[in-house]
Amino acid sequence: MGRKAVVTGVGQYVPPGVLTNKDLEKMVDTSDEWIVTRTGIRERHILGKNLPTSYMGVRAAQMILNEKNIDPLEIDMIVVATVTPDMMFPNTASRIQEKLGAKNAWGMDVNGACTGFIYALATGAMFVESGRYKKVLVIGADKMSSIVDYTDRNNCVLFGDAAAAVLLEPGEERDYGVVDFILKTDGTGGKYLYMPGGGSLHPPSHETVDKKMHFIHQEGRTVFKFAVTEMANVSEEILQKNGLSGTDIKYFIPHQANLRIIDATGKRLGLSDDQVVVNIDRYGNTTAATIPLGLYELYSQNKLQRGDYVLMAAFGAGFTWGSLLLRWAI
Ligand code: COA
Repeated sequence: MGRKAVVTGVGQYVPPGVLTNKDLEKMVDTSDEWIVTRTGIRERHILGKNLPTSYMGVRAAQMILNEKNIDPLEIDMIVVATVTPDMMFPNTASRIQEKLGAKNAWGMDVNGACTGFIYALATGAMFVESGRYKKVLVIGADKMSSIVDYTDRNNCVLFGDAAAAVLLEPGEERDYGVVDFILKTDGTGGKYLYMPGGGSLHPPSHETVDKKMHFIHQEGRTVFKFAVTEMANVSEEILQKNGLSGTDIKYFIPHQANLRIIDATGKRLGLSDDQVVVNIDRYGNTTAATIPLGLYELYSQNKLQRGDYVLMAAFGAGFTWGSLLLRWAI
């Protein structure tokens, strides 16, 4: 066998609307200085009010199909990581499948919150490695502005909207492509970061709206502590498991939730600043999109060479967390 899932294309869609820290100063009691020093975020992009998450996912995927001149009919499977689906059902993958014209593909959504893209990439990779499918689109897309309370300064400064995607295809070399991943969940952390309303536990009602249950709720300081510890642990674990150390990694793409979490994780792994991909200053936390956005940046700037190791790690609601080791193969 030895078949591996190889990333052969990367695309992104970042909506044109920009919400700066100065804009937020006019909306809640905050300051540019507080936001920059506590989070590292300077601005985030916001999708138009009437446009859904799939709008961004379609465009990120389309960028790959256009660049590689691939007919949408060739796509076998679409995996969408999101916590802001267009609707409860049908899944967002189906909506993207329709708009892409990918008539031969089936699709599903993966809800792993901020770890969603790593969960989805691992899932897509398994379908390619098994020999079942030849072209799998993995999309991370979130319209966080649709679940953010813009009167809550604790949360509204943190999040932004975007989508990014990768194409997975089979590669025949054993050590190239998605080399390994470690995925974790600890449901006892669920109470620290969640959106209570809208599901079967608290179906929408006047009460759920009045109590602001359709917005993100989180205990930021607790999430911060877990994220710092576990993102580094799961990154060290995957390096050790594969006989690698920080110096073997060309780029580390951490989930972008807070610059202080990113810096602390990079430091614990012994990485230098130029190994760590940071774009939180421009996009904020785009949940399932942060990691593929980082990969797109490397890809579009021709920074990736065949044989380079790319390490990804994320932490999010659930709690969910994980790491994925990719060896660039094209
Ligand atoms: N502007 C100004 N002050 C703010 C503020 C804002 N936007 N948001 C919070 N504050 C205030 C708080 O009210 C608090 O004031 P108090 O001490 O008078 O109560 C003070 O700043 C410190 O709050 P605290 O929560 O301790 O700050 P922090 O240093 O932990 O930073 C987060 C807050 C949310 C930025 C940080 O905890 C974080 O990033 N957590 C992880 C979030 C995350 O990753 N979530 C997504 C899942 S991956």
